[in-house]
Amino acid sequence: MSDLALPFESRYVPRKRLHDLYRRSIESPEGFWSEQARQLDWFKAWDKVLEWEPPFARWFAGGELNAAHICVDRHVKTWRRSKVAIYWEGEPGDVRVMSYSTLYGEVNRFAAMLKKLGVGKGDRVALYLPMVPELPVFMLACARIGAIHTVVFSGFSVQALADRINNVKAKMLITADGGFRRGKVLPLKATVDEALDQCPSIEHVVVVKRADIPVSMDAPRDVWLHEQLEAEMTFVPPEPVESNHPLYILFTSGTTGKPKGIVHSTGGYMVYNYCTYKWVFDIREESVYWCTADVGWVTGHSSIVYGPLAHGAAIVMYEGAPDYPSIDRWWHIIDRYGVSIFYTSPTAIRMFMGHGEKWPEKHDLSSLELLGSVGEPINPEAWLWFYKHIGQERCPIVDTWWQTETGGMMISPAPGIECVPLKPGSATLPLPGIEADVVDEAGNPAPPETRGHLVIRRPWPGMLLGIYGDPERYRSAYWSRFPGMFYTGDYAVKDREGYFWILGRADEVLKIAGHRIGTAELEDAAVSHPDITEAAVVSKADPVKGESIVLFVRLTEGANPSPELKKSLVDHMRRVIGPIATPEEVYFTAKLPKTRSGKIMRRVLKAVAENTPIGDLSTLEDEAAVEEVVKILQELRQAQAGAV
Ligand code: PRX
Repeated sequence: MSDLALPFESRYVPRKRLHDLYRRSIESPEGFWSEQARQLDWFKAWDKVLEWEPPFARWFAGGELNAAHICVDRHVKTWRRSKVAIYWEGEPGDVRVMSYSTLYGEVNRFAAMLKKLGVGKGDRVALYLPMVPELPVFMLACARIGAIHTVVFSGFSVQALADRINNVKAKMLITADGGFRRGKVLPLKATVDEALDQCPSIEHVVVVKRADIPVSMDAPRDVWLHEQLEAEMTFVPPEPVESNHPLYILFTSGTTGKPKGIVHSTGGYMVYNYCTYKWVFDIREESVYWCTADVGWVTGHSSIVYGPLAHGAAIVMYEGAPDYPSIDRWWHIIDRYGVSIFYTSPTAIRMFMGHGEKWPEKHDLSSLELLGSVGEPINPEAWLWFYKHIGQERCPIVDTWWQTETGGMMISPAPGIECVPLKPGSATLPLPGIEADVVDEAGNPAPPETRGHLVIRRPWPGMLLGIYGDPERYRSAYWSRFPGMFYTGDYAVKDREGYFWILGRADEVLKIAGHRIGTAELEDAAVSHPDITEAAVVSKADPVKGESIVLFVRLTEGANPSPELKKSLVDHMRRVIGPIATPEEVYFTAKLPKTRSGKIMRRVLKAVAENTPIGDLSTLEDEAAVEEVVKILQELRQAQAGAV
C-alpha cells in the first residue's frame, strides 16, 4: 500500500471543516440533511426528514418537488438562461451547444410529445440511445411529467434490452436509427426490432434520427421524433411529485442471472446528488465539467445529468470512442472546450498510459483543475500517471467510490469542503452523512489494515428505494448478510488513518473495464447456445480492463470442440448481452469442478485461468471429492496448453 501523501490546501475553506461537517452529519443527521435539502426548490415542504422502517427508507416524506424543475426551470429564471448547459460533440466531429434556455425549450417540447403519445405519471419509458443530447433531454422530459425512465446502455444487445423492458413493463421505447462508434454505425433500431418481438408492453417506439441510415418503421407503433415534435415551444408544467416517487429505474448485475432494477427516489436522490456533487467536484459557476461515462450507467445519471444540471453547470458530452480517430481525441476535447473538471475511469487511464504521454503533450491541458476516477479500483501507477501527465501535478484526484445502489458518491476526497491529503489508490474518507465501515465475516469491525467487507451502517438520502417489483430480493441482497448494515459486496481495508482502500468485489460480480456484469448472467447467455449444456465464468486479471472474462463450457452430446464453435459461442454471447460479454478465453471441458453439493468451484477455475497454483488441496476436502477435482484440473491445464 502506498504511503505517499500529497497534501492539497483547499481553495477557500479552512482546514478541519470536513471533520466538523462530518461530525455534525453523524450526530444530528436529520438536522444536517434538512439543511442540505433546503438548498433545492420544493413545491411543498416535507413532513418528516426520514421514515425508516428497516430496510426501507423514505426521505423527505410528504415533500413535493420535480427533478426537471430543479435541473432546468430554476436556472432559466436567472442569468443562467444564457449559460451553456451542454457542449456536445459527436464522434464524426459535429458539435451542438445548448444553453439552459435551449435545454428548457427542448425538455418542454419533448415532454409535450410524451404526453401526446399517451405517457403519464408513473409510466415506465425505456431509453436505448447513443450519447446524444436527446438522451438527457428525454430523461428530464420524463421527470417533468412524473414518468419513470429506465435507460438501457446502448452497448447492450437484443436479450438484455428485451429483459429490461419486460421487467418494468415499459410503455414506450425511445431509440435512434443508429449511433457512431469507432467510425462505424451501431444499428440500434435493428436491435430494437428484434427485441420488441418479445415485448408486448411497448405501445410506441420513438426514433431519433442520428446516423441517417435506412431503418424499418412499423407504423403506427414506430414514429420519428422530428415528426412528432411541435415546432413551437409548448410549456408543460412540471408535475409536483412526492419525494419518494421513483425518478428512475436502472438495471445492474447481482449474483443471479436476473439483473436488478434499482429504483431511485426523486427527493432523497436529488438532495444527495446536489450536495455530493458540490462537495466532491467543488463546482463553480465558471467550471466546465466533463464526465466520460456513458449515460447508460449510474455515473451518467448522477454525474452527467442530475448532479451537474442541478447546479446549473456547463457539461461536456461526447458520443464516441476515446481513441477515435486517434488516441488523443479526449485531450483534444479538453483543450477545445477548456474542461476544468475531468472525471473518468481507471480502465481509460490505463489504456492511455499504455500509449504514452506524447499524446496528451500535444494539447493544452492547462484548463484542468480537478481530476476524478470512478468505477473500479485505481492502481497507484495509473493514479500517478494521471496526476502527472494529465493533471500536470497541479490537480487533486478525487477517487470516488460508489454504486448504482448508492445513487451518489459515498467515499471520496471532498475538495469542495476541504481536501484531505491524498493517497494514490485510496478513495480516502466517507463523505458527510455516510457511516462506512469494514467488518469481518461475523460483522464485527475489522482491525486496521485487515481485509473485510465494506458496509454502510445507516440510511442516506441517495440510497435505492428498492429493487423494482421485488422487495424480498432487496432485503436479502443488501440487508441480510450483516443485520442492520447495508452490504455493498465489496472487499475493503481501512488503514491506520481511517482511509478506505477498495479491493474489488467479494461476490460473483465482475468489473470488466469498469462495467458491472454478473457471472450468472454470462453463464445463462452461454448455455442458451444450442451446443452448450453447462458453463462457468471466472475473471482473470487484465492490465488494462482490470478483469477479463474466462469461460469454461461443457458441450452437449454430439457437439465437438472446434475453433468455429468457439467463435459461434463468442458471437452468440455478444448478440445476447452485448460486446461487454465477450470472453477473453474459452475452454471446453468434459466436467466442471464442483463441491459435493453441486456448486461450481470457482477458485479451481480461477487457478486455471490465471495459471496459478491451486494451493493447499487438503482445504478442498470438506467441499469436494479431491481426486476428481485434481483430475479435472489436470485436464483443464492440458486443454489450456494445447487450447483449441
Ligand atoms: O466494486 C465497486 C466498484 O464498482 C462497483 C459498483 O459498480 P456500479 O454499480 O456499476 O457503479 C459504478 C459507478 C459508480 C462497486 O461495488 N467501484 C466503484 N467505484 C470504485 C469502485 N472500486 C474501487 N474504487 C472506486 N472508486
